[in-house]
Amino acid sequence: MFLVLLGAPGAGKGTQAAMISRKVGLAHIASGDLFRQAVEKGTELGQSVKAYMDKGMLVPDEVTIQVISERLNEPDCQTGCIFDGFPRTVEQAKALGKTLASQGKAIDKAIYVEVSDEELLKRLGGRWICRQCQTPYHEVTSPPRIPNKCDECGGELYQRSDDTEETVKERLKVYFVQTTPVLDYYRAEGKLVKVDGKRGIEEVSEEIIDVLGLKSVKAK
Ligand code: AP5
Ligand code: MG
Ligand code: ZN
Repeated sequence: MFLVLLGAPGAGKGTQAAMISRKVGLAHIASGDLFRQAVEKGTELGQSVKAYMDKGMLVPDEVTIQVISERLNEPDCQTGCIFDGFPRTVEQAKALGKTLASQGKAIDKAIYVEVSDEELLKRLGGRWICRQCQTPYHEVTSPPRIPNKCDECGGELYQRSDDTEETVKERLKVYFVQTTPVLDYYRAEGKLVKVDGKRGIEEVSEEIIDVLGLKSVKAK
Protein backbone atom coordinates (compact mmCIF):
# COMPACT_ATOMS: atom_id res chain seq x y z
CA MET A 1 0.00 0.00 0.00
CA PHE A 2 1.36 3.44 -0.98
CA LEU A 3 0.02 6.34 1.08
CA VAL A 4 0.49 10.08 1.04
CA LEU A 5 -0.02 12.18 4.19
CA LEU A 6 -1.00 15.76 3.39
CA GLY A 7 -1.48 18.74 5.67
CA ALA A 8 -0.10 22.12 6.66
CA PRO A 9 3.14 22.53 8.63
CA GLY A 10 2.42 21.31 12.15
CA ALA A 11 -0.69 19.32 11.18
CA GLY A 12 0.88 16.13 12.54
CA LYS A 13 2.07 14.43 9.35
CA GLY A 14 5.35 13.28 10.92
CA THR A 15 3.67 12.18 14.14
CA GLN A 16 1.00 10.18 12.31
CA ALA A 17 3.35 8.71 9.69
CA ALA A 18 5.61 7.38 12.45
CA MET A 19 2.66 5.87 14.35
CA ILE A 20 1.07 4.27 11.31
CA SER A 21 4.44 2.98 10.20
CA ARG A 22 4.84 1.26 13.59
CA LYS A 23 1.25 0.02 13.76
CA VAL A 24 0.94 -1.44 10.28
CA GLY A 25 4.59 -2.01 9.33
CA LEU A 26 4.95 0.34 6.35
CA ALA A 27 8.18 2.24 5.61
CA HIS A 28 8.08 5.98 6.40
CA ILE A 29 9.54 8.38 3.81
CA ALA A 30 9.75 11.98 5.04
CA SER A 31 11.31 14.48 2.64
CA GLY A 32 11.91 17.04 5.41
CA ASP A 33 13.67 14.42 7.59
CA LEU A 34 15.88 13.34 4.68
CA PHE A 35 16.85 16.97 4.05
CA ARG A 36 17.48 17.70 7.75
CA GLN A 37 19.68 14.61 8.06
CA ALA A 38 21.69 15.79 5.04
CA VAL A 39 22.08 19.25 6.65
CA GLU A 40 23.24 17.66 9.95
CA LYS A 41 25.81 15.54 8.10
CA GLY A 42 26.96 18.53 6.04
CA THR A 43 26.67 16.64 2.74
CA GLU A 44 26.51 18.36 -0.64
CA LEU A 45 22.72 17.86 -0.64
CA GLY A 46 22.53 19.37 2.84
CA GLN A 47 24.45 22.45 1.75
CA SER A 48 22.21 22.93 -1.26
CA VAL A 49 18.89 22.66 0.63
CA LYS A 50 19.69 24.51 3.87
CA ALA A 51 19.02 28.04 2.60
CA TYR A 52 15.60 27.07 1.24
CA MET A 53 14.60 25.37 4.48
CA ASP A 54 15.77 28.24 6.67
CA LYS A 55 13.66 30.66 4.64
CA GLY A 56 10.63 28.36 4.69
CA MET A 57 10.75 27.98 0.91
CA LEU A 58 10.38 24.72 -0.99
CA VAL A 59 13.49 22.94 -2.22
CA PRO A 60 13.40 22.82 -6.06
CA ASP A 61 11.31 19.99 -7.51
CA GLU A 62 14.21 18.32 -9.40
CA VAL A 63 16.26 17.95 -6.21
CA THR A 64 13.30 16.71 -4.16
CA ILE A 65 12.10 14.23 -6.77
CA GLN A 66 15.63 12.82 -7.12
CA VAL A 67 16.04 12.33 -3.35
CA ILE A 68 12.64 10.63 -3.02
CA SER A 69 13.20 8.40 -6.06
CA GLU A 70 16.47 7.13 -4.56
CA ARG A 71 14.81 6.42 -1.22
CA LEU A 72 11.91 4.69 -2.97
CA ASN A 73 14.34 2.25 -4.59
CA GLU A 74 15.42 0.86 -1.23
CA PRO A 75 14.21 -2.66 -0.37
CA ASP A 76 11.90 -1.62 2.51
CA CYS A 77 9.68 0.39 0.11
CA GLN A 78 9.06 -2.23 -2.55
CA THR A 79 5.60 -3.27 -1.37
CA GLY A 80 4.50 0.06 0.06
CA CYS A 81 5.32 3.10 2.15
CA ILE A 82 3.94 6.29 3.72
CA PHE A 83 5.03 9.59 2.21
CA ASP A 84 5.20 12.46 4.71
CA GLY A 85 5.81 15.99 3.38
CA PHE A 86 5.97 14.78 -0.22
CA PRO A 87 4.52 15.52 -2.76
CA ARG A 88 4.22 19.24 -2.06
CA THR A 89 3.69 20.52 -5.60
CA VAL A 90 1.53 19.16 -8.42
CA GLU A 91 4.77 18.63 -10.36
CA GLN A 92 6.05 16.34 -7.57
CA ALA A 93 2.71 14.49 -7.43
CA LYS A 94 2.84 13.83 -11.18
CA ALA A 95 6.48 12.67 -11.00
CA LEU A 96 5.64 10.29 -8.15
CA GLY A 97 2.66 8.91 -10.08
CA LYS A 98 4.89 8.28 -13.11
CA THR A 99 7.66 6.59 -11.12
CA LEU A 100 5.19 4.27 -9.40
CA ALA A 101 3.30 3.55 -12.63
CA SER A 102 6.56 2.49 -14.34
CA GLN A 103 6.76 -0.26 -11.68
CA GLY A 104 3.08 -1.20 -11.99
CA LYS A 105 2.27 0.57 -8.68
CA ALA A 106 0.16 3.56 -7.67
CA ILE A 107 -0.77 5.74 -4.71
CA ASP A 108 -3.72 4.09 -2.96
CA LYS A 109 -4.88 6.95 -0.75
CA ALA A 110 -3.94 10.51 0.12
CA ILE A 111 -4.88 11.35 3.72
CA TYR A 112 -5.44 15.04 4.38
CA VAL A 113 -4.94 15.85 8.06
CA GLU A 114 -6.96 19.03 8.64
CA VAL A 115 -6.08 21.38 11.52
CA SER A 116 -6.96 25.08 12.16
CA ASP A 117 -4.25 27.75 11.74
CA GLU A 118 -4.45 28.67 15.41
CA GLU A 119 -3.73 25.08 16.44
CA LEU A 120 -0.87 24.78 13.91
CA LEU A 121 0.91 27.73 15.52
CA LYS A 122 0.53 26.21 19.01
CA ARG A 123 1.90 22.89 17.81
CA LEU A 124 4.93 24.31 16.02
CA GLY A 125 5.73 26.69 18.89
CA GLY A 126 6.13 23.82 21.37
CA ARG A 127 7.74 21.22 19.13
CA TRP A 128 11.03 19.46 19.90
CA ILE A 129 12.46 16.73 17.66
CA CYS A 130 15.03 13.98 18.07
CA ARG A 131 18.40 14.69 16.49
CA GLN A 132 18.89 10.99 15.69
CA CYS A 133 15.53 9.55 14.62
CA GLN A 134 13.50 12.76 14.06
CA THR A 135 10.57 11.72 16.28
CA PRO A 136 8.55 14.87 17.11
CA TYR A 137 7.53 15.75 20.69
CA HIS A 138 5.55 18.64 22.13
CA GLU A 139 6.24 20.44 25.43
CA VAL A 140 2.58 20.29 26.40
CA THR A 141 0.73 17.63 24.41
CA SER A 142 3.36 14.89 24.01
CA PRO A 143 6.44 15.46 26.17
CA PRO A 144 9.17 12.78 26.25
CA ARG A 145 9.20 10.47 29.29
CA ILE A 146 12.66 11.76 30.30
CA PRO A 147 13.21 15.51 29.69
CA ASN A 148 15.22 16.28 26.56
CA LYS A 149 15.62 12.57 25.66
CA CYS A 150 13.91 10.69 22.83
CA ASP A 151 11.62 7.85 24.03
CA GLU A 152 12.43 5.82 20.92
CA CYS A 153 16.23 6.00 20.77
CA GLY A 154 17.52 8.10 23.69
CA GLY A 155 18.68 10.81 21.25
CA GLU A 156 18.95 14.49 22.19
CA LEU A 157 15.95 16.73 21.43
CA TYR A 158 16.24 20.10 19.69
CA GLN A 159 14.00 22.79 18.19
CA ARG A 160 13.99 23.08 14.40
CA SER A 161 15.60 26.26 13.06
CA ASP A 162 12.56 26.79 10.80
CA ASP A 163 10.11 26.79 13.74
CA THR A 164 10.64 30.51 14.43
CA GLU A 165 7.57 32.75 14.19
CA GLU A 166 8.74 34.44 11.00
CA THR A 167 9.67 31.24 9.14
CA VAL A 168 6.48 29.49 10.24
CA LYS A 169 4.47 32.33 8.67
CA GLU A 170 6.37 31.87 5.42
CA ARG A 171 5.92 28.07 5.50
CA LEU A 172 2.15 28.47 5.93
CA LYS A 173 2.02 30.90 3.01
CA VAL A 174 4.04 28.54 0.82
CA TYR A 175 1.76 25.68 1.84
CA PHE A 176 -1.42 27.52 0.81
CA VAL A 177 -0.01 28.65 -2.53
CA GLN A 178 2.06 25.66 -3.63
CA THR A 179 0.74 22.62 -1.77
CA THR A 180 -3.05 23.00 -1.49
CA PRO A 181 -3.32 22.31 -5.28
CA VAL A 182 -1.97 18.82 -4.46
CA LEU A 183 -5.18 18.23 -2.46
CA ASP A 184 -7.19 18.97 -5.60
CA TYR A 185 -4.91 16.71 -7.62
CA TYR A 186 -5.65 13.68 -5.42
CA ARG A 187 -9.31 14.66 -5.04
CA ALA A 188 -9.64 14.55 -8.83
CA GLU A 189 -8.07 11.07 -8.78
CA GLY A 190 -10.67 9.99 -6.20
CA LYS A 191 -7.95 9.25 -3.63
CA LEU A 192 -8.31 12.07 -1.12
CA VAL A 193 -9.61 11.25 2.37
CA LYS A 194 -10.01 14.02 4.94
CA VAL A 195 -9.30 13.32 8.60
CA ASP A 196 -10.01 15.67 11.53
CA GLY A 197 -6.50 16.39 12.86
CA LYS A 198 -7.62 18.48 15.83
CA ARG A 199 -8.16 15.54 18.12
CA GLY A 200 -5.57 13.68 20.19
CA ILE A 201 -2.64 11.92 18.52
CA GLU A 202 -3.96 8.41 19.26
CA GLU A 203 -7.52 9.21 18.08
CA VAL A 204 -6.27 10.67 14.80
CA SER A 205 -4.10 7.64 14.16
CA GLU A 206 -6.94 5.19 14.85
CA GLU A 207 -9.18 7.10 12.44
CA ILE A 208 -6.54 6.93 9.71
CA ILE A 209 -6.07 3.20 10.22
CA ASP A 210 -9.83 2.81 10.17
CA VAL A 211 -10.43 4.73 6.94
CA LEU A 212 -7.66 2.71 5.29
CA GLY A 213 -9.31 -0.51 6.36
CA LEU A 214 -6.05 -1.59 8.02
CA LYS A 215 -5.60 -3.49 11.26
CA SER A 216 -3.26 -2.08 13.85
CA VAL A 217 -0.79 -4.36 15.58
CA LYS A 218 -1.09 -3.30 19.23
CA ALA A 219 2.22 -2.63 20.93
CA LYS A 220 3.02 -4.93 23.86
P1 AP5 B 1 8.85 19.33 6.62
O1 AP5 B 1 9.84 18.76 7.54
O2 AP5 B 1 8.04 18.44 5.79
O3 AP5 B 1 7.93 20.32 7.46
P2 AP5 B 1 6.39 20.77 7.29
O4 AP5 B 1 5.61 20.30 6.16
O5 AP5 B 1 6.46 22.24 7.46
O6 AP5 B 1 5.67 20.03 8.39
P3 AP5 B 1 6.14 19.82 9.83
O7 AP5 B 1 7.17 18.76 9.89
O8 AP5 B 1 6.49 21.15 10.42
O9 AP5 B 1 4.78 19.38 10.53
P4 AP5 B 1 4.13 17.94 10.69
O10 AP5 B 1 2.84 17.95 9.98
O11 AP5 B 1 5.08 16.84 10.38
O12 AP5 B 1 3.83 17.97 12.25
P5 AP5 B 1 4.43 17.11 13.46
O13 AP5 B 1 3.96 15.71 13.37
O14 AP5 B 1 5.88 17.36 13.64
O15 AP5 B 1 9.60 20.36 5.64
C1 AP5 B 1 10.54 21.26 6.11
C2 AP5 B 1 11.20 22.00 4.95
O16 AP5 B 1 11.88 21.06 4.10
C3 AP5 B 1 10.23 22.73 4.00
O17 AP5 B 1 9.92 24.03 4.46
C4 AP5 B 1 11.04 22.74 2.71
O18 AP5 B 1 12.05 23.73 2.73
C5 AP5 B 1 11.72 21.37 2.73
N1 AP5 B 1 10.89 20.32 2.11
C6 AP5 B 1 10.41 19.20 2.72
N2 AP5 B 1 9.71 18.44 1.86
C7 AP5 B 1 9.73 19.09 0.67
C8 AP5 B 1 9.18 18.82 -0.61
N3 AP5 B 1 8.43 17.71 -0.82
N4 AP5 B 1 9.40 19.72 -1.60
C9 AP5 B 1 10.16 20.82 -1.40
N5 AP5 B 1 10.71 21.14 -0.21
C10 AP5 B 1 10.51 20.29 0.82
O19 AP5 B 1 3.62 17.79 14.68
C11 AP5 B 1 3.84 19.14 15.05
C12 AP5 B 1 3.80 19.28 16.57
O20 AP5 B 1 2.47 19.03 17.04
C13 AP5 B 1 4.69 18.29 17.34
O21 AP5 B 1 5.21 18.93 18.46
C14 AP5 B 1 3.72 17.17 17.75
O22 AP5 B 1 4.13 16.53 18.94
C15 AP5 B 1 2.40 17.94 17.94
N6 AP5 B 1 1.21 17.15 17.59
C16 AP5 B 1 1.07 16.33 16.50
N7 AP5 B 1 -0.18 15.81 16.45
C17 AP5 B 1 -0.84 16.34 17.51
C18 AP5 B 1 -2.19 16.19 18.01
N8 AP5 B 1 -3.09 15.39 17.37
N9 AP5 B 1 -2.54 16.87 19.11
C19 AP5 B 1 -1.65 17.67 19.74
N10 AP5 B 1 -0.37 17.85 19.34
C20 AP5 B 1 0.03 17.19 18.23
MG1 MG C 1 7.09 16.74 9.76
ZN1 ZN D 1 15.05 9.39 18.60
